[in-house]
Parts: sequence; C-alpha cells; structure tokens
Amino acid sequence: DDLERLADEIERAETVVAFTGAGISAPSGVPTFRGEGGVWERFDEGQFTYGRFRRDPEGFWEDRLELHEAMFGDGYEPNVAHEALAALGSAGYLDAIVTQNTDGLHERTLPAGEPKTDEERQNDAGTNLDEGNRTGSDTDRDEETTLLELHGNAHRAVCAMCSRRIDAEDARERVADGELPPTCDCGGTYKPDVVLFGEQLPGATLQRARSLARESDVFLAIGSSLVVEPAASLPRAASSTGATLGIVNLESTPSDDAAEIVHRENVTAALPKLETLLLE
Ligand code: OAD
Repeated sequence: DDLERLADEIERAETVVAFTGAGISAPSGVPTFRGEGGVWERFDEGQFTYGRFRRDPEGFWEDRLELHEAMFGDGYEPNVAHEALAALGSAGYLDAIVTQNTDGLHERTLPAGEPKTDEERQNDAGTNLDEGNRTGSDTDRDEETTLLELHGNAHRAVCAMCSRRIDAEDARERVADGELPPTCDCGGTYKPDVVLFGEQLPGATLQRARSLARESDVFLAIGSSLVVEPAASLPRAASSTGATLGIVNLESTPSDDAAEIVHRENVTAALPKLETLLLE
C-alpha cells in the first residue's frame, strides 16, 4: 500500500525531511487552527497580528492569555506520532523535522539532552547538509535529527527591543498580575517568541528549511493544511527539486497534486505503522 511505498522510498533515500503542522499535536489535545474545533473558529485571527501587538500591546497580551489557555491550558504530552518520528530519527532514517508548531512537543521526544538555541539548530542544519547525510551512505546513517521550529516556540517570550528571551510563563504571570504589557529591563515590550501574522519568519531559519527541502530525497508533510505561507510552499519546492513528496493528513491539501503519496489517516495510526515498516 502507500505506506509501504513510502517506507521503501525512505529506505532508499539519503536525506529525509519531515514537515509537521498542528495535526500532529491534535491527538495530544492541542487544538488545530483550521477545520473542526480549530481555534480560529473561536478566536479572531486578526487579534493576534504583529500590527496589533505594536499598536495595542495591552489588548494583545490580554487576548493572548485567553488563546494560550484554549490551546495549551489542559497540559499536554507528546503522542505516538511524535515518538515515531523520534524513533525514525534515532535509527538514522530522518535527518530533519521542520515544524510549524510552537508547542515544543518534538523537542520533548528527540534525544537531545540539552535544549539547543535557534542558532545552534541552524548551524546543525548546515552541518547536516554540508557534511552529513548528503555524503553518507545508507549503512552510515547519521543519528542526529535537526529540529527547525519555523514559527517559534510558545514556551518563550522575547523582548521586541533587545531580543532577550524569557520563559513565557513568566510573561504570562506578569500579565495576570496586571503588568500590561510585560516589559523587559531595557524598556522593550515582551512578545511571545512566535511568528505572528504579518511578521517575517526568521530569515536564517527559513533559508535552512528551504535548503533542507531542496536537498531532500523524501519530504514528508504531516498534519498540516498547507495553506499558510511561506511554510506551505516547502513541500512543493521539495517536489520540484526532485524529492518524493508524501503527505499524511486527514483532509486534502492544495499540494496533494504534487505528491507521489497521499495518505489520509490519523497520524497516531499512520506514523507508528511507518515506524514498524522501517524498524522491524
Ligand atoms: P491547520 O490547523 O491549518 O491544519 C491542520 C491539519 O491537520 C488539517 O488539515 C487537519 O485535517 C489535519 N489533522 C488534524 N488532526 C489530525 C490527525 N489526528 N491526523 C492527521 N491529520 C490531522 O494547522 P497548520 O497547517 O499547522 O501559524 O497551520 C499552519 C499555521 O497556521 C500555524 O503554524 C499557525 C497557524 O495560524 C502561526 O502560528 C504563525
């Protein structure tokens, strides 16, 4: 079937990249953005733009607290789909995970030990491409999986002026205590360390993601509606530079026509099956 074909392609590939969206975390209890039960049904996307943050940081942070509660309030753990990707990585079948998610769940499953800074991750991505898997053979599988968080990480807040990063929980506590907006010692305003609508993606991270897409032999998009640019262009970019594109998602996406393999199944079923096909 199509998962067997996908496993064959991965087996033969030198560089395999997984590209994930909110659908991979939905089974962990984190709501998706679009589709049934998506947070954009309950909240107005327009309240969370970069323009609003600049114009009205007080109102932005008040609304942000509510959004945070709706998305992450119940607490959540990685699920078997995150774990399957981590297992594929440890076995040398997965070179990078490029995620649009800000929930930090991939990081919790990767065998990294010390959390890495974005800069270190970016350097890792470069190393993988230049010296790692491109020149490695199948018997020489590199066991480190690069993680790129394209849209940032909601567990951090960043000062909009001096870029100092703090635990987002600190910022939220200050807001809850009436410090509106939460302010850095330098006088700058803290912003959730995520890419807001109307804000540019960090240039270096996006470039790394694009080179990973170009260099990949298999590019596997998982749990994303593939509608939010520029991230949504990565699967098509990978396909147009020769990668086998696979898509695992419950609903159809605008990139399905570019994919060799479209698999419609819950990620918690599909990814463990893929893991079994490759590792057992
Ligand atoms: P979306 O909410 O747009 O899409 C999630 C996709 O996952 C949908 O197409 C669902 O069909 C699918 N899905 C849901 N549960 C699934 C499951 N258990 N198994 C398989 N598929 C499932 O999320 P993203 O594509 O990640 O931006 O959204 C992209 C960006 O839009 C987000 O990163 C966020 C948002 O606004 C920022 O935060 C900057």
